[in-house]
Amino acid sequence: MNQVVIWVIVGLIFLLGVVGFLIFVSYKDHSSSSSSASSSSASSKKKASPPSPGQITYSSPGDHVWTCPDGLTSVDVKVVGGGGGGGSGWSTGECGGGGSAATYVHLKSMPVIPGTSYVASVGKGGSAGENGQSSGFYVKDKTTFVPPTSRSYLDSDGFTVFNFNAITLDYGFFNRGVDNPTTFSVCAWFKSTSSSGILEFSSIIPPSGSYDRILCLSKNGKVKAGVNGGTSTSVVSTADANYLDGKWHFAVFTANGSSIYLYVDGALKDSTSGVGGNYSGHWILGVTNPWNFLDVSNDYYTGLLKGVAISNDVCLTAHQVSELYGASDFVKFQSVLNGISSDWFQMDNPKVLAPGGSGGGNAGTESPGSRAVPSLPGIPSAASVEGSAGNGNSTGGSSLYENYGAGANGSCSSSPPSKAADGVVIISWN
Ligand SMILES: *[C@@H]1O[C@H](CO)[C@@H](O)[C@H](O)[C@H]1NC(C)=O
Ligand SMILES: *[C@@H]1O[C@H](CO)[C@@H](O)[C@H](O)[C@H]1NC(C)=O
Ligand SMILES: *[C@@H]1O[C@H](CO)[C@@H](O)[C@H](O)[C@H]1NC(C)=O
Ligand SMILES: *[C@@H]1O[C@H](CO)[C@@H](O)[C@H](O)[C@H]1NC(C)=O
Repeated sequence: MNQVVIWVIVGLIFLLGVVGFLIFVSYKDHSSSSSSASSSSASSKKKASPPSPGQITYSSPGDHVWTCPDGLTSVDVKVVGGGGGGGSGWSTGECGGGGSAATYVHLKSMPVIPGTSYVASVGKGGSAGENGQSSGFYVKDKTTFVPPTSRSYLDSDGFTVFNFNAITLDYGFFNRGVDNPTTFSVCAWFKSTSSSGILEFSSIIPPSGSYDRILCLSKNGKVKAGVNGGTSTSVVSTADANYLDGKWHFAVFTANGSSIYLYVDGALKDSTSGVGGNYSGHWILGVTNPWNFLDVSNDYYTGLLKGVAISNDVCLTAHQVSELYGASDFVKFQSVLNGISSDWFQMDNPKVLAPGGSGGGNAGTESPGSRAVPSLPGIPSAASVEGSAGNGNSTGGSSLYENYGAGANGSCSSSPPSKAADGVVIISWN
């Protein structure tokens, strides 16, 4: 090779390097604008690159609004409730009981949605004998699930589990009404041994009037779902399994305005053409109206439900269903949901909640104030540490995180005890 050719090659390599560098720099400079959004995954969604690491601390009591920046899909959240107030003393030297410390919740990776507003609610520490307020972090203006009155909650892999016992008129519902959802998706993890209704779309609360878009467990252990836009149409799991086996199963009932689909445990079981009736109503959980066509023993659900998520404008694909089914805990499940839509109706709203401490008892003339009990578990309970109880005669529970949420000491004289420490919400990302 002669020298000129070699120098041309060296020049070209150098030029390519400079161009590459310039592209890299311009990419970094515009990392937050959507025009240069890049996507390395196969997903067709545009992904903005994440913002540089940051942290926000909210420590004054009250509600603060935080809006998730572009490109950020997960944050580290630390939340401490307000401490419990100490009890008042008595001039004879009897001390009031110490208030308990607040709960501390540390969720290391909470899925968040860019552009969505969240509330960081900071709980106030209690004054004499008062409970501290809870602190929390959750989506602002989220459609609220109104739970059944006899609810009991358990916790499973970060999911909140709701227990239903076929009690007449005991159902839960979403407070936001919906006008004729034709494209929709209903996801539910269920665990049951009883043929009963899981949910429906009803024009009236309590369920009556018009109803369809029903998901239920029919008599022979099959999962069934149906619509009625003039004619009754249903999709049903095949006879390959009895789903009333007391184990967790994942049902997805989804529709695209012309067809309905039923998936169980990630696999498509049935599809047919069909569309729901045209009316406005509410999604109701834990009950279905009697509909012989679906062959259900009890209208009211018996069993456990978790991870119920409903979209009124998405028809899930087989791939999305299998991703949801494969998500092993609530955080992963939530990440998949967030990647599909920012507007799910969820029984289990993604939230962090740290209850405040309890107040200590006031002293009597001859008796010290009673000790405050430890604070309650937080949500998710797997990430929470309950605050310690206050001492029976004066000392408050000590804080579990820095100086936030400590219970106040009871007073040992007639002067009022000092106020307990306020809570905190700290959001950080890197
Ligand atoms: C709905 O599903 C049917 C059957 O698979 C399909 O023919 C139709 O194109 C789908 N409609 C929409 C709007 O995607
Ligand atoms: C549903 O009914 C309303 C009121 O009767 C009507 O305005 C609307 O066009 C109907 N929608 C569909 C999709 O048929
Ligand atoms: C207060 O509680 C501590 C620890 O339980 C105990 O040692 C102390 O004697 C108590 N004091 C009074 C005045 O009851
Ligand atoms: C409560 O009393 C203990 C023991 O006397 C003390 O160490 C602590 O600082 C006091 N806490 C507050 C909040 O005053």
